[in-house]
Amino acid sequence: MNEHDDRILDEHQNLEDMDMEMSLRPEYLKQYIGQNAMKKNLEVFIEAAKIRGEALDHVILHGPPGLGKTTLSNIIAREMDVNIRTTSGPAIERAGDLAAILSSLEPGDVLFIDEIHRLPRAVEEILYSAMEDFFIDVVIGKGEEARSIRIDLPPFTLVGATTRFGSLSAPLRDRFGVQLRLEYYDIDSLITIVHRTAEIFNIDIDEDSAVELARRSRGTPRIANRLLRRVRDFSLVKDETSVSLETTNHALKVLEVDPMGLDPVDHRIMNTIIDTYNGGPVGLETVAVSIGEEVITLLDVYEPFLIQQGFLERTPRGRRATAKSYEYFKQGIQPKVFGNEE
Ligand SMILES: Nc1ncnc2c1ncn2[C@@H]1O[C@H](COP(=O)(O)OP(=O)(O)O)[C@@H](O)[C@H]1O
Ligand SMILES: [Mg+2]
Repeated sequence: MNEHDDRILDEHQNLEDMDMEMSLRPEYLKQYIGQNAMKKNLEVFIEAAKIRGEALDHVILHGPPGLGKTTLSNIIAREMDVNIRTTSGPAIERAGDLAAILSSLEPGDVLFIDEIHRLPRAVEEILYSAMEDFFIDVVIGKGEEARSIRIDLPPFTLVGATTRFGSLSAPLRDRFGVQLRLEYYDIDSLITIVHRTAEIFNIDIDEDSAVELARRSRGTPRIANRLLRRVRDFSLVKDETSVSLETTNHALKVLEVDPMGLDPVDHRIMNTIIDTYNGGPVGLETVAVSIGEEVITLLDVYEPFLIQQGFLERTPRGRRATAKSYEYFKQGIQPKVFGNEE
């Protein structure tokens, strides 16, 4: 256990999540709530590939943690009626590891590489020919004896997921025919997700509690589910037949989730920029050092939501606090929570 294990905003899945998420993952596109624009596109691509009887074009899924990338990769395989092999960028250390996985694929299979921006360079290069022309060149032997042999691969679909689209090299990025960006969810979608999860957990929840949870989930299904699970415990202890708004508000207060869904780290980030750096511009690295967090965490988890909510601005000279953030963090004036889904 580390000190971050009980954070609502932990970007990593913890063990509890894994169990929970297995049972909560929608299996088909029809059950996948929200992201309507993206879903419609994907539906067409899947349908077309099936009509042609071909493997689906390679897909890259990008967006902040917890929005449903892993879920979607599994849905793609199920909708295409093929097998899925799952691995991740940091798990594949050598080119040979990837070659072994690739050569074990059946025609049409999905290979899912999570955190694909973390693939070692030498491994990534193997992917270029695999994706484009379905072959790999493998070097066997050493020194004078070394020679390269070509292995043909069946047509397959690479599904990559990343929180950092911008970190992908151009050659890799350009080889994905389908590029799907997941957005933070709007309130209505999150309310539906909360109700769906409540049903699976077999608990009743008052409508105003569901709305409150949705509003305070940072547009993120994983967080909505985590919060619901914690709130359920409070409700259980109080022996409620249905999760009440009062209990929800109490639980969220104890969990240090503010009315906008922001946690203490968000507050430290904004207060540091506003107070210590006069509102900025200031480099994110400087902010990270000031508050003792890792830059990567700020980049992947915190900053995207603060920007989306209009609290933080990216400028060429660093991050800057907006007028709206002065109102909220300094005067407690609460703006409306909004999503930017179509
Ligand atoms: N569109 C959705 N509809 C319903 N639940 C969702 C949806 N997207 C994500 N979830 C829930 O959120 C959890 C986290 O999603 P996941 O796919 O693991 O996110 P990511 O891979 O982007 O970090 C899933 O277990 C699932 O329960
Ligand atoms: Mg994932």
